[in-house]
Parts: sequence; C-alpha cells; structure tokens
Amino acid sequence: MRLLVTGGAGFIGSHFVRYMLERYPGYRIINLDKLTYAGNRDNFQEIARHPRHRFVKGDICNRPLVARLAARVDAIVNFAAETHVDRSIDRPASFLQTDIIGTSVLLDAARRAGHTRYIQISTDEVYGSIEQGSVDETAPLRPGNPYSASKAGADLLAQAYGRTYGLPVLISRCSNNYGPNQYPEKLIPLCITNALEGLPLPIYGDGQYRRDWIYVVDHCRAIDALLHHGIPGSVYNIGGGHELANVDVVQRIADTLKIPAAKIHFVSDRPGHDRRYAVNDDKLRRLGYRPVTSFDDGLAETIRWYQEHRAWWGKIRAGAFRRYYQEHYNDSNGKKRAAAKAADRRVRVNQSVRRVDRRA
Ligand code: NAD
Ligand code: DAU
Repeated sequence: MRLLVTGGAGFIGSHFVRYMLERYPGYRIINLDKLTYAGNRDNFQEIARHPRHRFVKGDICNRPLVARLAARVDAIVNFAAETHVDRSIDRPASFLQTDIIGTSVLLDAARRAGHTRYIQISTDEVYGSIEQGSVDETAPLRPGNPYSASKAGADLLAQAYGRTYGLPVLISRCSNNYGPNQYPEKLIPLCITNALEGLPLPIYGDGQYRRDWIYVVDHCRAIDALLHHGIPGSVYNIGGGHELANVDVVQRIADTLKIPAAKIHFVSDRPGHDRRYAVNDDKLRRLGYRPVTSFDDGLAETIRWYQEHRAWWGKIRAGAFRRYYQEHYNDSNGKKRAAAKAADRRVRVNQSVRRVDRRA
C-alpha cells in the first residue's frame, strides 16, 4: 500500500509513520507536513532517509500540491491539524483554516484520485462534555471550543463526501494521547518538563476535570486496524480505558519525579472547559483491537523519555514556546492577579478616604 500521511512530523503522526514502516515492510509513505510550531523534523530523524519514507514540507491547504501527492498513493490518513485547545481559544483562525479547509482539500484530492480509503483522525472532543456514562458513535456532536468545533466541521464534511461522492471515508474519534515526542504545551508533557526544570505544575480550575488517557502507540494500532478492517462510511471511537481527574494525573507525575506538593499550583481555569470526555469503543473492539499499555507503564515510559531527551524539549522550550508560556501562564494569570490586587487596593483607598472624610 502507498499512503499519504499528513501531519507526520507531529506527535501522533510521527509515531504512526514509524509504526507503519516497521510493521509493513512493503508499504511506502509520503509524509506531508507544514512544520508549524508543533511539527518537528527531530520527530522522524531516524527514518528521514528510510527508502520507503518521503518527507514533503507543505500545507494541506495547498490544492495543487495535495492533488499531485494524492495521485501517487492508495489512501490518505489525515493527522494534520491545529490541535491545542488553549491556542484555539486565543486565536481560532488557523484552526478553521487547517482543520476544516485543509480537510476539504484532502477530501477533494482523495475523490479525484479514486482512493480506496480516507481516514480522518478526529477526536472525542467533538461530542462535548459527557457528564455521566459514555457515548457511542451515534451521539450528537456538541463541540465546546473552537478546536473541537473545527474538528466537528471536518467530520461532517468527511461524512458528506462519503454520502455524496461515495468516497470510502472512515472517521476515528480518539481520547487523550500521551507518550514520547508530545509538544510540551499539553498537560502531561508540560508537567513533566516543568517538573524537570523545577517550575510549578499548573492545574486549571479545581483539577476535577476528567480525561481518558491512551498511550500513543495504542492509538497507532487502532488506526492500523481501521485502515485494514474498518468499514468505509463508519465512525469509530477509540478509548484508552484510563479515566483520571487531572489532579491525579499531575500528582502521579509529581510522585514519580519526587516533586513536593507545594509545586502543584491551581491556576485560572480554561474558558468553556469541558468537564469530562468518555467514549464507548465497543465497535472498534469488535474489529479485534484492544489498548495494551497500562497508564502506569505508559506514564513511566513517557517520563523516562523526557528525562533522556532533554535536548529534544530543551530546544522547543528555549524557542517560540517561551513566549507562549509567558503569555499563557505568567502574563494571563499574573495580569488577573494584578487586576484583583488593584481592585483590592482601590477598595482600601476608598475606605481610608471615607475614614479621613468622617474625621474631617
Ligand atoms: P500535533 O499538534 O503534535 O501535530 C500536528 C501536526 O500537523 C504538526 O506536525 C503540524 O506541523 C502539522 N500541521 C498543522 N497544520 C498543517 C497544515 N496546514 N498542513 C500540513 N501540516 C500541518 O498534533 P497531534 O497531537 O499529533 O494530533 C494529530 C491528530 O490527532 C490531530 O488531527 C488531532 O486533532 C488528533 N487527535 C489528537 C489527540 C491528542 O490527544 N493529541 C487525541 C485525539 C485526536
Ligand atoms: O480528547 C482529545 C483531545 O485531547 C485532543 O483532541 C486534543 O488535540 C488534545 O490537545 C487533548 O485536548 P485536551 O484539552 O483534553 O488536552 P490538554 O493536555 O490541553 O489538557 C488536558 C486536561 O488538563 C484538560 O482538562 C485541561 C487541563 N490542563 C491542561 C494544561 C495544558 C491543566 O489543568 N493545566 C494545563 O496547564
């Protein structure tokens, strides 16, 4: 099989490319990635010269480029996206552009090329917050932030292309991934790298938000199952089976790295923060797939990887990430604290002015 994998310089995409090259000695992969702040050549360094892997730096919104590449493959697996919820809240435009328009460009190219499979990598976030129980693939889409709304838009487009043009589309909706090579803006790598640098571990709000965690290689195995055994036109949830409150995730990282509890800081909440995600993935399990990595093993492996790859994340944290971190964690929380202090001061000044007035 010849595959066009998009977003293969990112976290999950790079694991998927490596996994597929190792597992299928006859497969060829074109890896198309724009190398945004989240894309990283270091993520595929050891396969950069692999004879069955070709990296192309480019945008999925670039119609002629995508059409050219799509004509050379049998199937597309689309990982390329803007993926961080907090960034989508600050600046949503690139999310709409890549996650919706980019997906439509890929769908058009797949249609013209007459592909046998198109896999849209979506997310459990499209269902919105699930307060109780879990949802299967028939649940309504209720995205709660600009990132998940863009991903939901892409899902609907992909389904429309399946129905209208008969494109063999499959959609996967996976829960929270963690593992090596994850950009250190997401909860787990952020807390690990902060801990290794002696910085605070920030928890939004009350820390009782719940996520279902899946080790990244298990996600890749699930996509492999869909590529080969999934029924075109179907949606498949992918869960990890490890639901935890954020505060417990952070506590485990702190315990493993022997970080004192005082380093755990409760900070301003994320606007529109979804309380809980939980998917029922029985449909995928009927294809024979099961996640095999326990959260304890996966987290230990992930922490070890960040300990042993300081150069990988040191470079990121010394670059553009610093400004993002300043703005997001120091400035916004600092500004809020400063505003609260200023309001406090104004009250105290007004009270003392009133006291002076009374004495006069
Ligand atoms: P990531 O942010 O680590 O990587 C995204 C990659 O896409 C980067 O390499 C980036 O350069 C590339 N990219 C962005 N815009 C592009 C464009 N216009 N053209 C070409 N390439 C572009 O993301 P990730 O965590 O690896 O997520 C991959 C996919 O999986 C996304 O579609 C995401 O929505 C989905 N997903 C992620 C998770 C998770 O927990 N990380 C869970 C479920 C689904
Ligand atoms: O559910 C799948 C989704 O998981 C993917 O589609 C997204 O691409 C991926 O980014 C992830 O989204 P989340 O918002 O759930 O992941 P994040 O790591 O940003 O946050 C996980 C939880 O931790 C969430 O409740 C917010 C909280 N959090 C996050 C950060 C960055 C904190 O408490 N502190 C933090 O500093």
